[in-house]
Amino acid sequence: MPDNTFTKWLCACVAIIASSSLTASPRERVDLNNDWRFYRYADNQQADALIYDTRPAVEGFNDSQAADTRPTDAVSISSQADILKPWILPSGNAFIDDPAKRHTRPAGNPGEDFPFVQHDFNDADWQAVTLPHDWAIAGPFYTGDNPKVGGGMGRLPSHGVAWYRKQFTLSDTDKGKQIYLHIDGAMSYSMVWLNGKLVGGWPYGYSSYRLDLTPYVSTTRPNQLAIRLDNPPQSSRWYPGAGIYRNVWLEKTSPVHVSQWGTQVITPHVTAESADISIKTGLTNNTSSARTVTMQHAIYELSVDDQLSRTPVQTLTSEIVTVQPGRDQTSTSFTKLANPKLWGPAPQQTPHRYAVVTTLKENGSVLDQYTTAFGIRDLQFDPNKGVFINGEHIPLQGVNQHHDLGALGAAFNLRAAERQLEILQEMGVNAIRMAHNPPAPELLTLTDKMGILVLNESFDSWYKKKTPLDFHLIFADWHEQDLRALVRRDKNHPSVIMWYIGNEVGEQYTGEDGAKVALALKAIVKSEDPTRPVTASMNWAKADFPFSAAMDLISLNYQGEGIRQAPEFEGTNRIRTPPSYPAFHKAHPDKVILSSETASAFSSRGIYLFPVTPEFSAPVRDGRGGDSRIHQVSSYELHAVDFGSSADKVFRYIDTHPYVAGQFVWNGFDYIGEPTPYYSARSSYSGMIDLAGFKKDRFYLYQSQWRPDLPMAHILPHWNWQGREGEITPIHVFTSGDEVELFINGESKGRKKKAPLEYRIRFDDIRYTPGIVEVVAYKDGKPWAHDRVETTGPAAALSVSADRKVIHADGHDLSFVTVDIVDEAGRFVPTATHNIAFTLSGPGRIVATDNGDSTDFTPFVSHQRNAFSGKVLVIIQSENHHSGDIVLTSTNKELGTTSLRIRSK
Ligand code: GAL
Repeated sequence: MPDNTFTKWLCACVAIIASSSLTASPRERVDLNNDWRFYRYADNQQADALIYDTRPAVEGFNDSQAADTRPTDAVSISSQADILKPWILPSGNAFIDDPAKRHTRPAGNPGEDFPFVQHDFNDADWQAVTLPHDWAIAGPFYTGDNPKVGGGMGRLPSHGVAWYRKQFTLSDTDKGKQIYLHIDGAMSYSMVWLNGKLVGGWPYGYSSYRLDLTPYVSTTRPNQLAIRLDNPPQSSRWYPGAGIYRNVWLEKTSPVHVSQWGTQVITPHVTAESADISIKTGLTNNTSSARTVTMQHAIYELSVDDQLSRTPVQTLTSEIVTVQPGRDQTSTSFTKLANPKLWGPAPQQTPHRYAVVTTLKENGSVLDQYTTAFGIRDLQFDPNKGVFINGEHIPLQGVNQHHDLGALGAAFNLRAAERQLEILQEMGVNAIRMAHNPPAPELLTLTDKMGILVLNESFDSWYKKKTPLDFHLIFADWHEQDLRALVRRDKNHPSVIMWYIGNEVGEQYTGEDGAKVALALKAIVKSEDPTRPVTASMNWAKADFPFSAAMDLISLNYQGEGIRQAPEFEGTNRIRTPPSYPAFHKAHPDKVILSSETASAFSSRGIYLFPVTPEFSAPVRDGRGGDSRIHQVSSYELHAVDFGSSADKVFRYIDTHPYVAGQFVWNGFDYIGEPTPYYSARSSYSGMIDLAGFKKDRFYLYQSQWRPDLPMAHILPHWNWQGREGEITPIHVFTSGDEVELFINGESKGRKKKAPLEYRIRFDDIRYTPGIVEVVAYKDGKPWAHDRVETTGPAAALSVSADRKVIHADGHDLSFVTVDIVDEAGRFVPTATHNIAFTLSGPGRIVATDNGDSTDFTPFVSHQRNAFSGKVLVIIQSENHHSGDIVLTSTNKELGTTSLRIRSK
C-alpha cells in the first residue's frame, strides 16, 4: 500500500483507573455508592420549583414516529421563572476553551431554604437505595393507549423530579485536601447541594462530571449531600433510564495534583521493535503560590485484573515543573519502549495494556500519584481497504449497543456489561458503536481488556430536535463541555478508534450551515485529541453535501445498501436513496467509508409466522413477517424496518464493495424502548440477541459470516408444529460451510450449495411432518458441521442452568440463570409459555426476571414470569461480604420444582 493513500492516525489512549498505591499518596478514591436515600415526587405538578431552566410545553407529541423522521427546529420559549442555570453553568468551565466564554457564578445560594438540602431534614421515610440506581426500571409499565410514557421511551416511569441524599464524613487528616465529587452519570439535569450550598451540576445525563466540594466540606461534622434530578418526558427516542445510574466517587487529592482526566498517552510511532510514547500531563495548583514539583513517569505492564507488573518496564527521567497558582499547566515527556506488547483486537490480536504511573513530589514527599491505563497500537485507515491495526487489516464486524442492560435497566453493572460483550464476541463481533451517547467509563475498560474496537459517540441531536425535550434544549450551552468531557475522559482507551459527534442529526439537511456546526464540533474534538478521526452518522446527507465533506471519514446509516428502494415505496415522502457506496467512494476517494448502521432487521425469538416471504429482504406487514394482533415479528430473519434491509442483503452489499471498512449492525442486543414496528410494546425487536440475552436465529446468521473458521450450522424454525401437518413450513440453514444436506426423519430432502452472495440455504417447499430435522453441512466437499431439531413431547419439567455457578460476594456480581422448559426426554420445548415462580434462599437476591418478549409487561423485578418461546431468565445478585450457597427454586404447578445452587464467595 503506498503511504500516501493512508490517512494516518496515531494511537492514543485513557482510562484513569484508581490511583496506584505504590507509594502512599494523598490521592484517594472512595466509593460513594452505598447508603443513599431516594425520593421521587409522585406527581410532577407538585415538584419543587428548583428548576434548571424552563422548557417548552409539549402537546400531542407521539413518540412512535419513525426513527428517520426529519428533525425539526427548536421551539422558542419565554418565561419569567427563576432558574438555577446560571449557578450550574460554571460547573463546566474547565471544558470551555475560550476564557471569555466561561461562566461566573452569580451571588446567592438558590435552594438554601429548601428542606431537602438541610442537614436536619429527616429522610428516614425515603427509600434506601444503593447506586448505581435506575428508579424507573421497577416499573410498573404504562400499558394501553395514551400512556404517560410511550413505547418509544419504554413505557417505564423514567420522567419526573427526584432527590437523592447521603451523608459522608471526613476527618482531620483530610484538612487542606481537595475534595471532589465524581458522578459518572445521572439521568438527568443533576444539581448538587452540599451542606445546604448549591455546588453545581450537569444537565446531560450521559456525561461524567466532577464537582469541587472543597469550599463546602466540613472535617468536623457529617457532610450532607442532596442531589436533585429532573428527567424530562419526551426527551429521548429510547429508554433513557432515570436516576444516578452510574458510579459515584469521592476523591481526595493534595491541592497540587494531576488535573481531571489530565494525562494523555500517545504512541505516534509503533513497530514490533519499538514504540514512541508521549505523555502529556496536566497539573493543577489550587494553592495561592507557585509550586515547584518533581514529576516522574514510570510505565508498567497492566494485567487483565488491573495489576501492575512488579517492576516498571520503563522509568522516565524526572522533570522539575513549576505550576502557577490557580491554574492548570501541561507538560509533555517522551520515551521509547523497546519490544512493546501491542494492543490489538480479538481474536486476531491480543489486547495488551500498559499503565503510566505519574508521581509528583515536593521536597521529597509525594503530592500525588496517578495511574493512566493505555495501549500501544498503530491505527491506520486506508480508503480502499478499511481499518488496519498494527499493520493487519481488520474488517469491522460491529454492532450498535444502547446503554441499557435489559431487565437491569440503565443502572450500570460491570458483570452485566461484560456478559453482553462475551455474547457478542461469541457471535464474532470485534467492534461496537456506543449508540448514541457517552458510555459508562467501565465499559471502555472492558472493551480495552477484551479487545473490542469502539466508535465513541456523543449526541443524537444538535440544535434541531428529534423529540420535544431532547438534548437540543441544552446543545447551545453545553455541547463544548459535553464533547470535551467525553474526549478527555476516554482518549487513552486503546479500544476507541473514532469519535462520533452526532447521529443522523437534523443539521444534515441544512447545507453549509449544518456543515459549519459539524466542523465546529470536529475542531473541539481535534483540540482534545488530534490522533483519531471524527465523524457523524449520515442517513440523509449525500455524497456531494457539505455535511459529508466536513467528515474525516464517511459513516453511513442504511445508505450503502439503499433506503426504501422497493417499488412499493415509490412516491413516499420519506427518505428514499439508491445504494450509495459507489457515489461516496467516488466523491471522497481519500476517505474511509463504513456503515455505522445497517439492517435494523426485526424478529421475536422463537416466533415463526407463515407464509414465509420468498423475498430476501422485506418490510414488516401483517401477513408478511408481522402480526399486529400479537405484536411479534417472524424469526425467519427476512424483515427489516422500512428504511433498513435484512442481514442477507447487507452482507451482499458489504461483500461487493470491498473498500467499505465494515458494518455496525442495528443492533446487537434488544433494548428497552423504540419497539418499531409495534409501539404498544416495551422493547425493541431489532437485536440479534433478545433483551434477556437469549440468541435469536439472526445470531447464527452473523456468526456464520463473522466466524468462518468455526464449524457451525443452524436450522430454523423449531419443529413443533402440531396442526401444520402437510403445510408448507420452510427450513432455512445458516452455516459457515458452503453446502448442506437436509434430512427429515432420515430421508434426504436434497443437498444444496450456498449460491454466491447468498447467506442462507433455503428449503422453501418442505411440508411439515413431525419428527427429526437434521442437516449436515459441508465445506469444500468435506463434512463440516451439523445441527438437529426435533419435535418434542409436551412440557414436563424445568431445566435450570447458570452462566456462572460461583460468584463474588461483593454485592455487585451476578449470575444469569436460564430456565428452559423441557419434555420428558429433556428436550427443549420451544413453544412453552408456562408461568414460573422463583424463590431464593442464602446470601443473594433475585434482581430481575425476563424472557425477551417485547410485549411482556410483567415488571422486571417480578419473581414470577411466563416463559416466552420456552425460556425465562433470572438474574441473581450476591450480597456484600456474605458468602455461602444461594439456592434458587423454580416452580410451576404442572412442571414441578427445580433447584439450582450457586456459590457466592
Ligand atoms: C436509526 C437510528 C437509530 C435507531 C434505528 C432504528 O435511524 O439512528 O437510533 O433509531 O434507526 O431502526
